[in-house]
Amino acid sequence: MDDVDSIFADDVELIKNADVLEEDYTPEQIICRDDVLEQYTSVFKPIYKGRPPQNAFLYGDTGVGKTAATKYLRKNLEQDIEQKNEQLSESEQISLNIIWINCENFTTGDHKTSSYQVAVGIVNRLRSQGNRITGTGYAPQDVYDIMYEELDKLDGTALVILDEVDKIGNDDTLLYELPRARDIGYVENVRVGVIGISNDYTFRKNLSPKVKDSLCETEIKFPAYDAAELGKILRTRAESALYDDAYTTETVNLCSALAYQEASGSARRAIRLLRRSAEIAEEDGSQQVEETHIRQADKDLEYGNIVESLVDQDDEKLYILKAIAHLDEAGLTPARTRTIHTAYSRVVDSYNTKRGKDPLTQRGMFNHLSKLVMFGFVNTIDHNKGVGGGQWNEHEFSDDVVPQKVKDAFDDRNLQWTNIDVRGITE
Ligand SMILES: Nc1ncnc2c1ncn2[C@@H]1O[C@H](COP(=O)(O)OP(=O)(O)O)[C@@H](O)[C@H]1O
Ligand SMILES: [Mg+2]
Repeated sequence: MDDVDSIFADDVELIKNADVLEEDYTPEQIICRDDVLEQYTSVFKPIYKGRPPQNAFLYGDTGVGKTAATKYLRKNLEQDIEQKNEQLSESEQISLNIIWINCENFTTGDHKTSSYQVAVGIVNRLRSQGNRITGTGYAPQDVYDIMYEELDKLDGTALVILDEVDKIGNDDTLLYELPRARDIGYVENVRVGVIGISNDYTFRKNLSPKVKDSLCETEIKFPAYDAAELGKILRTRAESALYDDAYTTETVNLCSALAYQEASGSARRAIRLLRRSAEIAEEDGSQQVEETHIRQADKDLEYGNIVESLVDQDDEKLYILKAIAHLDEAGLTPARTRTIHTAYSRVVDSYNTKRGKDPLTQRGMFNHLSKLVMFGFVNTIDHNKGVGGGQWNEHEFSDDVVPQKVKDAFDDRNLQWTNIDVRGITE
């Protein structure tokens, strides 16, 4: 194809259009979602007709098309309104402003996402660059006031889409007030509609009744895909992403089957798997994606998944994991709770200057350790020597966890990793 000799080039290229396999790619068509799309479309109909907007709550596991369907309908709605406006006189025209917030982006280190931070996000979407506000330094009520002031400068409808809204935590003030902004009298000009999108069904259950009343006016459930549906979605994606000879029906089927088994019907997982497989095949100089490439890709993704779920743990659990990692590397696992507690205390002390907090007691730590066992990161070995022989537990990483994954998780959380000497700790 080209004569240039570069260390970055592979002998064969299987990927024709890599963008199509990116996370943020919006597919031209949403496949296998006719029922859901029909319900969802009717949520947007009032806006198209120039009537007050509806609120809606969408839920379903990760990777089942919630964000994709929303982007797809958003695009269509904006296009169709633009067309409709061409036929209307200026005073009749429909004015729609869509404010899309991914609540996950507002989680930084120890600061959990909150209504407050999402309100700051909304303000900053509406303000020009020089006038943005910071996420600290305002009283919450001031931030809400500024937000309503900015919203009210808009004409017509403001549709606020809160993706990953479950990240907002317990304080659902915003979810209560925003859909009723006009009723409560916070705004006069603009009509506000809110779409909340959640990966977590328990979030819906735990919402306060008044939020359920307003936000969950319409609820749309996105069920998981089965292997055949994943196959259809993936085939369409493969057609535009890969060269024809680069893959076979088996490629698509195996990726779909694995995503179905291991990620409960997530199209995201299926697409990631296809992308990684194709990359591995290219590195391998293969003309086609083979089963071995898919198996290797699957392993790679599993590794990333474990790290991701470690990143989600609270600080105390991360310190315990770090303690076990040090013990593991020193060949001291399985280790008794007392030993882990000593190592854990040293880990906490090493962060102490910044944190100003003491390590938990052994008992306090044990509660967190038990959770880590429950989540499958750590195994417990029971020793029971019968009457008079004593009884104790030892702990070690499960097969899923190795010290490097814990290190990677610390890295992702921007927590510094210092080595701690645990030799002689068991004596
Ligand atoms: N029905 C579908 N048709 C085409 N692509 C889909 C469909 N459902 C999901 N996808 C793709 O799968 C990936 C994950 O979907 P996404 O909408 O981000 O999931 P969720 O928001 O539910 O976690 C995205 O790349 C998306 O484009
Ligand atoms: Mg999503």
